[in-house]
Amino acid sequence: MKHLLKMLDLSREEIMEILNLADQLKYEQKHGIPHNHLQGKTLGMIFQKASTRTRVSFETGMYQLGGNALFLSASEMQIGRGEPVQDTARVLSRYIDGIMIRTFEQAEVEALAEFGSIPVINGLTDFCHPCQILADLMTVREHKNRLEGLKMCYIGDGNNMANSLAVGCLKVGMDVSLACPEGYYPDAEVLEFCKQYPNFRLVNDPIEAAKDADVLFTDVWASMGQEGEAEQRKLAFKGYQINDDVMAVAKPDAMVQHCLPAHREEEITAKVFEEHATEIFDEAENRLHAQKAVMVMLMSDKN
Ligand code: CP
Ligand code: NVA
Repeated sequence: MKHLLKMLDLSREEIMEILNLADQLKYEQKHGIPHNHLQGKTLGMIFQKASTRTRVSFETGMYQLGGNALFLSASEMQIGRGEPVQDTARVLSRYIDGIMIRTFEQAEVEALAEFGSIPVINGLTDFCHPCQILADLMTVREHKNRLEGLKMCYIGDGNNMANSLAVGCLKVGMDVSLACPEGYYPDAEVLEFCKQYPNFRLVNDPIEAAKDADVLFTDVWASMGQEGEAEQRKLAFKGYQINDDVMAVAKPDAMVQHCLPAHREEEITAKVFEEHATEIFDEAENRLHAQKAVMVMLMSDKN
């Protein structure tokens, strides 16, 4: 593994290796065991979009690993004024040891990886959010002690979260049911991948998708960059919500996950959110541990 660009690139074995290392690093952090695998290393973090969890977890994670993280706001870099990504990649490769980038276009992340000579980590694009899905799988395994054979249901927009969750969950042997309104289905390349799996379903009805689910996910109706479509999306996604009706058809011990930020009473009711807050904030915490594992695997001299 040279980069983390999208879940489609990872094998089941690589995903499991990341999750196992993440569990180990979490244990070490909780028990005060030093794990400074990235001493003297620097991660550059380029942000074209807002962030709370990604920024703070990468920066803190790098610090805990003995390294250093630079927050690089795209609007204050030359890339924000049109300097080509190919040049930015080659320049940053001369100074630092890894790049995390959050941006719009997946192609920009792929170009950074192609033209630079250091590992690139996708911190969210319009296409996918692999760091989030690694934390999600870690959290589900922590709560359920396994992944294989569990049923994952996602209700809502066929966006970056849906694209990466479907691929990640299928790769680790989970059953996947997505409920998306027509016109808001996942990416065509993702659907092509998913259709190889008999345990994949895409439906329009949230209740149908949620039946016997072990874990339910949702995400905002309008993602970053889609603010102008918010009103139209409120109409399109009406009913695409995790609520008591949906929970009633899932398994009695079903967990709920949300990548956050959440919009209460849109994609999830405040009641269900609070009833599952422990699982949701475990998920947020696990961003830190899963990303530390990714950085160690990509940036440590030992690997
Ligand atoms: N879930 C997530 O990526 O959160 P941020 O947008 O706050 O980084
Ligand atoms: N789909 C959301 C995820 C935020 C973490 C967005 O792209 O804004």
